[in-house]
Amino acid sequence: MALRQPRGCARAVDPLEWGMDCRGIPEMINAKLLQRMMDASNDGIVVAEQEGNDNILIYVNPAFERLTGYTANEILYQDCRFLQNGDRDESVLQLIRQAIDQGQPCRQRLRNFRKDGTAFWNELSITPVYNESDKLTYFIGIQKDVTEQVEAQQQVEQLQRQLDEARAQIVALQNDQRH
Ligand SMILES: Cc1cc2nc3c(=O)[nH]c(=O)nc-3n(C[C@H](O)[C@H](O)[C@H](O)COP(=O)(O)O)c2cc1C
Repeated sequence: MALRQPRGCARAVDPLEWGMDCRGIPEMINAKLLQRMMDASNDGIVVAEQEGNDNILIYVNPAFERLTGYTANEILYQDCRFLQNGDRDESVLQLIRQAIDQGQPCRQRLRNFRKDGTAFWNELSITPVYNESDKLTYFIGIQKDVTEQVEAQQQVEQLQRQLDEARAQIVALQNDQRH
């Protein structure tokens, strides 16, 4: 493979392998390198293609397999909604459907289920990808497990409620003692 000497560079780099010039500035990313980056990601990454009312998965990365417990072979060509397992938050899904229909990006939090039935909170980011003729071709989805944050937030809210109740009881007791 021919090495290219970028302008102002002291050494030759192989942009097809590294996709960077000698200053480390990305010039182009080839498909192999891009695939390696997606495979290395800690968050789930999927690519879906529109087919009728469904957006069918045509790529899932290893982090998505780890997060959901499903292997790529088990779920390719299906719409991701199977992760909801019947537990559908219609207000959130309506926002997702609307964004998809309008070719807009969206980010929503929803409850999903792994293959073994355990639940997790998924912060889902969906972005449409247009080809050169501005025709919508794919959607990229990024799934982030935010279960710990959501559960911590729920605990804070519960403690806040208990604190409010305790305060109200103290005020009521103080009022009783005054009379
Ligand atoms: C790229 C992409 C990734 C998606 N990832 C998920 C996901 O991880 N979990 C999920 O519950 N829904 C996911 N969805 C949303 C569902 O596929 C579907 O759009 C949603 O359930 C609303 O449509 P419905 O009411 O027809 O089911 C994703 C959609 C797209 C386009």
